[in-house]
Amino acid sequence: RLTVSPSSSQFFQYDFVSLSCEEDDSSAGWTLRRNTSKQERTQCGDGWGTPAGSSCNIRYTYPSDSGVYWCESREGTVSNMVHLTVTGGSVILQSPVLPVMEGDDVTLLCKTKTTPSNLPAAFYKDGSLIRKH
Ligand SMILES: *[C@@H]1O[C@H](CO)[C@@H](O)[C@H](O)[C@H]1NC(C)=O
Repeated sequence: RLTVSPSSSQFFQYDFVSLSCEEDDSSAGWTLRRNTSKQERTQCGDGWGTPAGSSCNIRYTYPSDSGVYWCESREGTVSNMVHLTVTGGSVILQSPVLPVMEGDDVTLLCKTKTTPSNLPAAFYKDGSLIRKH
């Protein structure tokens, strides 16, 4: 299982993000890989990220870190995949990283780069307004 901390699929440029490969017994032998628009299947430490045990830390994110991330075992078994987006903009939508089950409650948060974050916000789904605050 691949988990992301902080738990968000969108990040601001210069954010810190830690990705972890977790397994029930041990996470030994798992490699974190990613595809971005520029490179495919590169592993943590190979030009991006710093390996830290079963985690991989990205100290300062950049838009070029946007892409799909997954863990891969030596045997080629793959974990869930996670799409991360890093924006150079000033607003992000904080939404669950992992798929949610039907019927679950979900909290969506519009986050601004500069505090305070309690600004008016409108949420759209597939182009249609669903909620305004
Ligand atoms: C990553 O890129 C490789 C090479 O194009 C492709 O085969 C693979 O499906 C991609 N993986 C994901 C998770 O998108």
